[in-house]
Amino acid sequence: MKKITIAIDGFSSTGKSTLAKQLAQQLGYVYVDTGAMYRAVTLYAMQHGFVSPHHLDAEGLTADLKQITLHFVFNTELGYGEMYLNGVNVEREIRTLEVSSLVSKVAEISAVRAKLVEQQQAMGKEKGVVMDGRDIGTVVFPDAALKIYMTASPETRAQRRFAELQAKGDSVTYEAVLQNVNERDYIDTHRADSPLVKADDAIELDNSNLSREAQLQRVLEWVAAKTKSM
Ligand code: DC
Repeated sequence: MKKITIAIDGFSSTGKSTLAKQLAQQLGYVYVDTGAMYRAVTLYAMQHGFVSPHHLDAEGLTADLKQITLHFVFNTELGYGEMYLNGVNVEREIRTLEVSSLVSKVAEISAVRAKLVEQQQAMGKEKGVVMDGRDIGTVVFPDAALKIYMTASPETRAQRRFAELQAKGDSVTYEAVLQNVNERDYIDTHRADSPLVKADDAIELDNSNLSREAQLQRVLEWVAAKTKSM
């Protein structure tokens, strides 16, 4: 079957990565988690004193961007690529609430976006890619054959994120997670460079009340329809 590019955008914790991983596995596609790339740059910025809750040195980080290399290394057990920052597996560190609370600030920096978008476009050159993020259907792959825009209520999303963090042993409160979800929504949709918006030709998928299985079946039908018409 012909392979296409699938762009999945939406707010945080809408289940983009869950859907993207399932699709990649079912279709034999490569999955690229672009949020992990922004998170890894944020971790680097934290480690080097470029960002903290009360400060952001965008110029310093921009000058240091050449020092940052990002790779995904496929983990056969997990079935997806883990994020490596300068050769070190940072998959766990980039998922903490601390990184989550700073990443939107770092993702506002245009030089950071330019570097990551270039790398994402290179990774998606060959068709057969499912990529999730905030600007995939609008900026990274405006010509993607299938664009999905995922939504769910902030409370539903905060509950999901809270359960994930709790399962990992993170001692966070639901209120803190909900506050982080709302803050990130605001920054992600209001930033000057590549704000999160639904592409005109994206299909909206609200999964507040949709099981993972039902969602996957629905999207697989969309993929089949797209590939048939090509
Ligand atoms: O999908 P995520 O929650 O892991 O993404 C983390 C942050 O990275 C999110 O708050 C916004 C930013 N991001 C972005 O600006 N553009 C993308 N393509 C992906 C993520």
